[in-house]
Amino acid sequence: MKRIGLLTSGGDCSGLNAAIRAVVSSAIERGWEVIGIHDATNGLILRPLSYHQMSMKDFEFPFATLGGTMLGTTNQADAHKFLKEDGSTEVLNDEQILERFKAGVDELKLEALVVIGGDGSMNIVSRYCQKAGVKMVGIPKTMDNDAPGTDLAIGFQTAREVVMDALDKLDTTAASHKRVMVAEVMGRGAGHLALQSAIAGFADIALIPEIPYTYEGIVKKLKAVKAEGRNHALMVVAEGVKTPEGEHYRAINGHTFGGISSYFVKRLTEDGFNVRGNILGHIQRSGTPCASDRILASSFGVHAVKLLAEGKTDRVVVHQNGHVTDLSLSEILSIGNTPVDPNEELVHVAKNLGIYIGEF
Ligand code: F6P
Repeated sequence: MKRIGLLTSGGDCSGLNAAIRAVVSSAIERGWEVIGIHDATNGLILRPLSYHQMSMKDFEFPFATLGGTMLGTTNQADAHKFLKEDGSTEVLNDEQILERFKAGVDELKLEALVVIGGDGSMNIVSRYCQKAGVKMVGIPKTMDNDAPGTDLAIGFQTAREVVMDALDKLDTTAASHKRVMVAEVMGRGAGHLALQSAIAGFADIALIPEIPYTYEGIVKKLKAVKAEGRNHALMVVAEGVKTPEGEHYRAINGHTFGGISSYFVKRLTEDGFNVRGNILGHIQRSGTPCASDRILASSFGVHAVKLLAEGKTDRVVVHQNGHVTDLSLSEILSIGNTPVDPNEELVHVAKNLGIYIGEF
């Protein structure tokens, strides 16, 4: 192995730069060249190609505290529509995308690609790689923590800290004003973030997409809190939760969810509760990566390069039972994403803490 490509793909999250640094550092240690591809696979698909040869100089700026990705990324809703650097869009069909990708890989003489991405990216990029005849190694990232085969993905632990911190802050204003504070958190299909931050932030209610709830159940819990003598409460709702009538709230882009908290604020207000809503939004995906995410990302990056050095490709680095290991790409793709299992330990913990988490 002499020359590898490295890219980040899908929604950003905190800890990506630590993973990039680890890949670059361990590859350079081995005397390899690392080509940083810009804006996910766009750097290989759009023309001119967009990339730069990476060195440890890339990390001279005090970047450790920065969220985001220094390589740029995309999570375009339409896989055929590309936003170019000059702001214009280019529409390409599948064949054109694959051709351009292969030509990009060939021109840059990449022997393998390290892909830092969520399950959607692994799916798409692995298809491109197969077509281009280039081997890949994947590193899972997603603040939703629903990446297949791994207990932890880069970005989740920082997001959980951000939400816990927000809940701590909301709690004081809730107490001052004797209010119910609703915090809407990210999680389209997976409620790991909502569930775990509700436990960490001592919330009273946690609604997640995986577990059905009733409006009556929410009201009953809020009344019980009041009856216990506490005149304020915290409610965490994952953005992917439907209304009791089964409707999703769509964000302004129509592609993601967002706004479900406003439903509860309105309805609970009409029913006499003193309520305010807060959509935590993209703040959850950014900010200083916590130590655990930096360590996880660093370990993932080092392991990815070790795999390549051993000639092991088409594998995805994972964290299982406290250890960094790897699974085959095909296994990862067959698992699909991993939402909260209603029987999992933390659901049991939440219930025993008296958190209303739904009816099941
Ligand atoms: O998949 C990660 C995620 O953060 C979701 O939880 C959220 O709905 C979505 O990305 C938002 O994506 P965008 O960057 O397109 O707003």
